[in-house]
Amino acid sequence: MKRVRKAVFPVAGLGTRFLPATKSIPKEMLTVVDRPVIQYVVDEARKAGIEHFIFVTGRNKGVIEDHFDLQFELNETLAQRGKTTQLDFLKTLQPEPGQTSFTRQQVPLGLGHAVWCARDLVGEEPFALLLPDMIMQTDKSCLSDMVELYEETGGNIIAVQECDPAEAHKYGIVGRGKDVHDGFEITGMVEKPKPGTAPSNLYINGRYILQPQIFGILAKQERGTGNEIQLTDAMLKLEKTQRFYGYHYRGSTFDCGSPEGFVEANIAFALARPEMRASVLGMLERLIADLDPRKAMQAAE
Ligand code: G1P
Repeated sequence: MKRVRKAVFPVAGLGTRFLPATKSIPKEMLTVVDRPVIQYVVDEARKAGIEHFIFVTGRNKGVIEDHFDLQFELNETLAQRGKTTQLDFLKTLQPEPGQTSFTRQQVPLGLGHAVWCARDLVGEEPFALLLPDMIMQTDKSCLSDMVELYEETGGNIIAVQECDPAEAHKYGIVGRGKDVHDGFEITGMVEKPKPGTAPSNLYINGRYILQPQIFGILAKQERGTGNEIQLTDAMLKLEKTQRFYGYHYRGSTFDCGSPEGFVEANIAFALARPEMRASVLGMLERLIADLDPRKAMQAAE
């Protein structure tokens, strides 16, 4: 069985929910505490043993490429000023030369189309797909667990989590079959089901391990939900000839594609930083106390 060495990051989205911030800054470069959203996702992939990082970008996304490049002048300045802690930290995040590739999704035709744009860069091997809107908070990465499951089962793996049934229409939802190792057989998938029609409350959380045969299907894929080329529809076709397993991830996931999820991620990641925890907790307590209606009335009197 071929190892999962490559990961695809579709980063071409316009980020309209974050305007005006995203007029000139890609949404993937917005920071959660002090690192861009995309950095969390790339770090998750690196922890899972990924060696090649493929970004499907678009216009106005050049700064993502700069971010993963070596900033020679910055490193020299930090070295001259003796700022070794920062320098060493930056080095831990730095991809080696040749470990990154960038291609462009020229037209926004949907997630399936974005993945298809990476076909030549991936080639004939299984690959991980990480949707950068979703960032996860656990010691061991979600993708690491999926790679372990993949080494037992082969096939295709999709990570899922439970959602409120009222939210199911926002996601891809899978049906759950019998348990296999730490995962389960997937018995069906539906993208953005109409209210009341979801096969379960297990939603696709944005982490996949896929076989390269998905590209041949995507090449012929018709438009689906939202008039876009949907990855879920292509996976449904691949399911006819290949096995699909679900991995039930139980850590915390933050949907940084929505402003509320982004704010929650900032609070959660700040609280997880020992040097910030006490001061951020204090700030939150003060802000919550200020919301107390009696206080608001007193202030108004
Ligand atoms: C995409 C996928 C969907 C998945 C979701 C996770 O939808 O198509 O299956 O549940 O990501 O964020 P999008 O968020 O692009 O609408």
